[in-house]
Amino acid sequence: MKTLTIIQPDDWHLHVRNQAVLKTVLPHTARQFGRAIIMPNLKPPVTTVAQALSYREEILQALPPQSDFNPLMTLYLTAATSIDEIKKAAESDYIHAFKLYPAGATTNSDAGVANVKAIYPLLAKLEQHDIPLLIHGEVTDPQCDIFDREREFVESSLTEIIQEFPNLRIVLEHVTTCEAVQFVQEASHKIAATITPQHLLYNRNALLAGGIRPHFYCLPILKRERHQLALIAAATSGQPKFFLGTDSAPHLTHTKENACGCAGCYSAHAAIELYAEAFEQADALDKLEGFASFFGADFYGLPRNTKIITLKRSTWTVPASYGEGDIHITPLRAGEPLNWKLQS
Ligand code: NCD
Ligand code: ZN
Repeated sequence: MKTLTIIQPDDWHLHVRNQAVLKTVLPHTARQFGRAIIMPNLKPPVTTVAQALSYREEILQALPPQSDFNPLMTLYLTAATSIDEIKKAAESDYIHAFKLYPAGATTNSDAGVANVKAIYPLLAKLEQHDIPLLIHGEVTDPQCDIFDREREFVESSLTEIIQEFPNLRIVLEHVTTCEAVQFVQEASHKIAATITPQHLLYNRNALLAGGIRPHFYCLPILKRERHQLALIAAATSGQPKFFLGTDSAPHLTHTKENACGCAGCYSAHAAIELYAEAFEQADALDKLEGFASFFGADFYGLPRNTKIITLKRSTWTVPASYGEGDIHITPLRAGEPLNWKLQS
């Protein structure tokens, strides 16, 4: 039986929500990952250190007994964020980054930033305190084709931000295009990117061929195959600028199977298995550990994990749904086989 043993991975981009959904999804992440960067796009968004600390407590309460999973908190950057809050975040051991959502770009981003230039004084503070800025990199101009929104953002806003703040650490979250990959590769070592399992395993055919498949709908949207190939090449390149961030984003099934379905793929149930499949298909399983377990920690200036996990090559079928009572969450690959299984 083929097995793969690696240092325990971390998830550098994760949505766990709160309340009942949190209780449903968190154990999936905690059984695989040592740590995760927790996205702050709750309703209302997590904008203060005090809110992040109480959200962190709620997450710790929802963990299975004996779990030593460590949630790494982030704050939602808005035009109303104060310089003082950034200072407080810098002084906190629990806040690891600020997240920039262009207003209206994605799920729960209404409180995001409408004019990036208007918050340059805040970016200057992040740079001064060396706090990473995590960016949802899509323009929100409704005239812009949805498949071009990431490229446009990279060419316009991101290029300017980097020129203006050369020492600001930036993670371009969930990159989906060859233009974004190339941009990150050519930028300084301060600039990194996360890559999701769905963007490595699928392209827009999965979303649209043979019928509309809402469980493949996320933002940034799946792109065409040449972009998928560029992402696979980047993830398996061994370059430390690219690391694991699932963007696992649970939504109740009925809100996705809907005339206007929500954006977000749920992948936490089998995240490392999905990445293993993508790396195996690229004949690059030897590159999985760096991508999943080393490069993110190095970028964030945190120690690498020391525990190990083992994956076994054995086929299992993903459940059709997770949750109980009113909670139904359809996972990526629902009802279909996976070839790798994490050993408990
Ligand atoms: C995310 C969510 O549901 O919170 N959705 C998504 O499609 N990725 C938000 C985000 O990260 O864009
Ligand atoms: Zn996300």
